[in-house]
Amino acid sequence: MQVAIGSDHGGYALKEYLKPYIAEMGHELIDVGCFSEDSVDYPEQARAVTELVSQGNADRGILICGTGIGMSIAANRMPGIRAALCHEIFTAVMSRRHNDANVLCMGGRVTGPGLALEMVKAWFSTDFDGGRHQRRLNMIDPPE
Ligand code: RB5
Repeated sequence: MQVAIGSDHGGYALKEYLKPYIAEMGHELIDVGCFSEDSVDYPEQARAVTELVSQGNADRGILICGTGIGMSIAANRMPGIRAALCHEIFTAVMSRRHNDANVLCMGGRVTGPGLALEMVKAWFSTDFDGGRHQRRLNMIDPPE
C-alpha cells in the first residue's frame, strides 16, 4: 500500500520510530513531515496527508500529534476521509472492521512506541466487514 504519514512536533518521535517498521511491512511511505521537533501547526500535516488519501494518491494515512485529537478533528473535515483516533489495539482493529477507517490518528504523548507499532500492524492487517457497516457509512457519505 501507499501510506501517507505526517505528524506535528508532538508526534514527530513516534512517526520516526514507526517509519522503518511500516516500510518493512512492505508499504511505500510518503512522509509529509514534520521533519524535526520544532513547533509546527498540525492542520498543515493533516491537510497534506488527507489530500493524498482523498485524491487517491495514497491508500491510507497515519497522523500523529501530541494527543491525536487535533489531527483527527482536522482530518475528518476532508471529503472521503474516515479518520479514527485510537489509543489501543481494540479500537484500531474495530476502526477497520466497522468504520473502514482510511486514516489512523494517534497521540505521540499518549501511546508508547511498542503499543503504537502493534496498533499499526493490526490496522493494516484488518479488513472492513462491510454489510450493515457499509450501510451506515453510506448514511454519512452517500455514494454518488
Ligand atoms: C501541540 O502542542 C499539541 O497541541 C498538538 O500536538 C495536539 O495534541 C493537538 O491536538
